[in-house]
Amino acid sequence: MSDWKPEWKSEWKSEWAIDSWKSLEAQQQPDWPDRHQLGEICQRLASYPPLVFAGEVRALKRNLAQVSQGHAFLLQGGDCAESFNDFNANTIRDKLRIMLQMAVILTFGISKPVIKVGRIAGQFAKPRSSPVEEQEGCELPSFRGDSINDSEFSAEARRPDPNRLERSYFQSASTLNLLRAFTGGGFADLNQLHTWNQDFVANSPQGQRYAAMATHLGDALRFMSAVGIDSSTTPILSHVDYFTSHEALILEYEQALTRQDSMHGGYYDCSAHMLWIGERTRQTDGAHVEFLRGIRNPIGCKIGPQVSPDELLRLCDCLNPRNEPGRLTLITRFSHTRIASSLPPLVRAVQREGRSVVWSCDPMHGNTFSIGSYKTRDFDHILSELQQFCAIHQAEGTIPGGVHFELTGDNVTECIGGSMDLRAEQLCERYETTCDPRLNAEQSLEMAFLLTEMLHKKQPDKGADAS
Ligand code: PEP
Ligand code: CO
Repeated sequence: MSDWKPEWKSEWKSEWAIDSWKSLEAQQQPDWPDRHQLGEICQRLASYPPLVFAGEVRALKRNLAQVSQGHAFLLQGGDCAESFNDFNANTIRDKLRIMLQMAVILTFGISKPVIKVGRIAGQFAKPRSSPVEEQEGCELPSFRGDSINDSEFSAEARRPDPNRLERSYFQSASTLNLLRAFTGGGFADLNQLHTWNQDFVANSPQGQRYAAMATHLGDALRFMSAVGIDSSTTPILSHVDYFTSHEALILEYEQALTRQDSMHGGYYDCSAHMLWIGERTRQTDGAHVEFLRGIRNPIGCKIGPQVSPDELLRLCDCLNPRNEPGRLTLITRFSHTRIASSLPPLVRAVQREGRSVVWSCDPMHGNTFSIGSYKTRDFDHILSELQQFCAIHQAEGTIPGGVHFELTGDNVTECIGGSMDLRAEQLCERYETTCDPRLNAEQSLEMAFLLTEMLHKKQPDKGADAS
């Protein structure tokens, strides 16, 4: 490996240090009024315990390597932005539960392990399309997520406050603590499949479809138990691996949580198992790519319609110079109208150059629009982007490895459509997101069922006559 050279030599930046990102431009950073205070808080954060461990991070990377080869499937999802107000045991449980339900539907449907990665326990900071917001002639800094400022529209609330970074650390620690208890302490036991169906979903068509599948699986589990395979003999039946992820946006925070692994030597960002770079911060000569290229975690990179094949290959070289399977997940988010023209040239370039990546589809962020004052998304647009994603990969002979959703286990009214036929005039009923609109529990279950159907479509024979 020592004589290995990247293909894009002119772009190659050899020296990485935990703070080498500081000499480069970082997009989407808050204008901290007191940088001295920020420094003090980050110093404290750097002395606190890590939130995740390097061994877990390596396990996720191994799982994602399986995804890149088509032996497993990635399900990533959760809130657009976590919030300080909506922080209690029930919401954490419900966010986990909907992901477990979707994962069971997918595992049952596609007969592959499903790697579960929450947008949770750290997803607090948001990139914004404008640094300022105007209301009735008054202009203030935009809300950038609870780890930075407050959504209330006042000068005081919108002032970036680094104490919020510390608060997000503690909220993430507490969230992870409960997630670890749920996933290891019986809640995630496959014998509990029926109890995961929440009351308000249970009577809906999707809830009933889920219940029928759970009954079916319950029969299989009882059979297995009769032949001696149950959670006492096979602990995997009662335990789930649930990984955490967030957008690595505030680099001071990420640096403070980055630790050198005492056993293997590399640096790991221990704020989450997986970190991703957003569509607005993925410049190859920018601070975010610089920071993330040096940590050993699995990395996601959002890819929108502006990226060219060359730029994408440069990103692959920067972020995954050794072409390590499982290291890099490309999360495409084009919109249902642009994916057909945008995705194939990128897939071909990555394929031609032999780059190992996980292709994941974020069908949410290209499909946002407004109805009145509500930002929303249409279930049909989300579904269409997903269907095209699967069909394009199937046609190109590449692997549709995963999905990335904004969703919640609650009964919210934020995205329109689905078989529940949520209408525009219902958006006002339970519109609770602090940022982008999420699929609710019923829409999420329906999406999982539809996804299994798409993933089942057979790959065309590459040599076959198209006519
Ligand atoms: C997000 O995932 O919430 C987000 C802002 O996505 P993107 O960077 O793709 O716009
Ligand atoms: Co979002």
